[in-house]
Amino acid sequence: MPEKGNIAQPVIEIKDLYKSFGNNHVLRGFDFILNEGENVAVLGKSGSGKSVLIKCIIGLIKIDRGQMNVLGQSVPDLSQKELDAIRRDVGFLFQGAALYDSMSVKENLEFPLRRHHEKMNGGTSMSKRVEEALDSVGLLHTLHLMPSELSGGMKKRVALARTLILQPKIILYDEPTGGLDPITGREISYLINEVQSKYKAAALIITHDLVCAKITTNRIVILSEGKNYIEGSYDELDQSNDTIVQEFFKK
Ligand SMILES: Nc1ncnc2c1ncn2[C@@H]1O[C@H](COP(=O)(O)OP(=O)(O)OP(=O)(O)O)[C@@H](O)[C@H]1O
Ligand SMILES: [Mg+2]
Repeated sequence: MPEKGNIAQPVIEIKDLYKSFGNNHVLRGFDFILNEGENVAVLGKSGSGKSVLIKCIIGLIKIDRGQMNVLGQSVPDLSQKELDAIRRDVGFLFQGAALYDSMSVKENLEFPLRRHHEKMNGGTSMSKRVEEALDSVGLLHTLHLMPSELSGGMKKRVALARTLILQPKIILYDEPTGGLDPITGREISYLINEVQSKYKAAALIITHDLVCAKITTNRIVILSEGKNYIEGSYDELDQSNDTIVQEFFKK
């Protein structure tokens, strides 16, 4: 018998996932596996269902059919309390990465800790966690600033720190480089790599930014017509003659 410890365990397992909104059949038989410690990108055109997929994973949207297992639990069967518990282990960086504008950077970072760790209400352990997370995105000096005093790239970094603060086992990134210039986008991509290895989380990175996918992942899945159309490494897909793949990779 092989030792369980040597085999990467799936942290997300999706089988034959269907999700429609009325006549809009968004996901139609999507299959996907994310293993422990792995970083995978899902690439898809605007409106192809990428954000819907992330919301299904964390149970914000109810799936119509199929299997959705996260950290060994079937998401559609979870109670609200169990969903809350799983969201402690699954961090997500929403598209837009909105911070609470009326709260300082420090308060933004304390927010998830207060929500998920009642015992940590204030005190030194909380300050330490906040400072460590902010330091890992290189922004410790912004602790007392307001979001309005930060650039777009800095806001993304703070939002990433807020995701890291609960030390999640999986991080779901929805367009982490969206709306940023190419240089800042690249910086964020390298930062994602850094924090992923520091926090040893698995990552699902939803993007249409090929540079981000190339930097942050070793496997890319293309979502097209509601399905996992094709997958491969950046180089494999880059050399593909398939017309749908080429739409993403043409230079
Ligand atoms: N709550 C909802 N109710 C009804 N329709 C929805 C809902 N959420 C998403 N949709 C529809 O599902 C489809 C996929 O949306 P989704 O936001 O997943 O696209 P996306 O791939 O993330 O696009 P983008 O790259 O622009 O962010 C769209 O047609 C959208 O209108
Ligand atoms: Mg989206």
